[in-house]
Amino acid sequence: MIVTIDGPAGSGKSSTAKKVAEQVGWHYLDSGALYRTWTLLYVMGGMDLALFEEVVDVHDITLSVDKHGTEPLLNGEKVGDSIREQRISEHVSTVSTLQAVRDKVNAEMRRIVQKHNFVADGRDLGSVVFPDALLKIYMVADLDERAKRRFAEMEKKGIPASLQEIKDNLAARDATDSERAIAPLTKPEGAIEIDTTQLSFAEQVSRISSEIQQKLS
Ligand code: CDP
Ligand code: CDP
Repeated sequence: MIVTIDGPAGSGKSSTAKKVAEQVGWHYLDSGALYRTWTLLYVMGGMDLALFEEVVDVHDITLSVDKHGTEPLLNGEKVGDSIREQRISEHVSTVSTLQAVRDKVNAEMRRIVQKHNFVADGRDLGSVVFPDALLKIYMVADLDERAKRRFAEMEKKGIPASLQEIKDNLAARDATDSERAIAPLTKPEGAIEIDTTQLSFAEQVSRISSEIQQKLS
C-alpha cells in the first residue's frame, strides 16, 4: 500500500510524510532524495547534461530500507547530507528533466514498493508513478513561508545558505518542475489539497493520518 504526498519544495511534504509513516507503522519514501543523488553524481562528474544522460545506465542509485529509515545509495555507498547542499538544489530540477534519470528513479521506487508499505513524497507520485495509491495528498504553502521554513531547517543542520538564495531557488524550481514536459508537478486527479501556510505541523500530520485510517477502515 502506498500514500503519496506531492507538492512544491518546502510545503512540508517530507517531514509530514516521515511522521505519518511512523504513526501508521509504514516506511517513508523520499523520491526527491533519489533525484538529488543522481544530481550529486552529475555534479561530481562535471560533464555536459546530454553526455550525462548517456552514462546514466552505467550507474545504480538504490534505496536501502531498514528499521532506521530509507536512504539512497550511490553505487552502493551512502551519500548522507551532501545531497541537501545548495549546489545540488541548484541543479536538481534540471537533472530531473532527463527521461533516463526519471526511468531509473521510477524503476527503483516500483521495485521497493513490492516489499513494504510506504508514505512517499515527490512531484509526480500521485499523477504518474502511483496513480492507484490508497490516498493522494497535494500539499502547498506560500513561497515566503516555505523559504523561511527551509532556511530554519538548513541553519539547524549547519548547511550554509541565505534566505534570499533559498527563496530564489524555490521559485526557480517551482517553475522548472511545473513547466517541464515529462511528469510535471501538478495536483493529481483525486488528490486532497492541503495548504499548510496557516497550519501547525501537528495539524497536517493528524489530518493525513485520519484520512488514512478512514481509507483503511
Ligand atoms: O526537499 P525539497 O522539497 O527541496 O525537494 P526534493 O523533494 O528533495 O526534490 C528535489 C527536486 O527533485 C525537485 O525540485 C524536483 O526537481 C525533483 N523531483 C522530481 O522531479 N520528481 C519527484 N518525484 C521528486 C523530486
Ligand atoms: O518536503 P518539503 O520540501 O515539502 O518540506 P520539508 O522538507 O518537510 O520542510 C518543511 C519544513 O517546515 C520542516 O522543517 C517542517 O518542520 C517545517 N514546517 C512544516 O512542515 N509545516 C508546518 N506547518 C510548519 C513548519
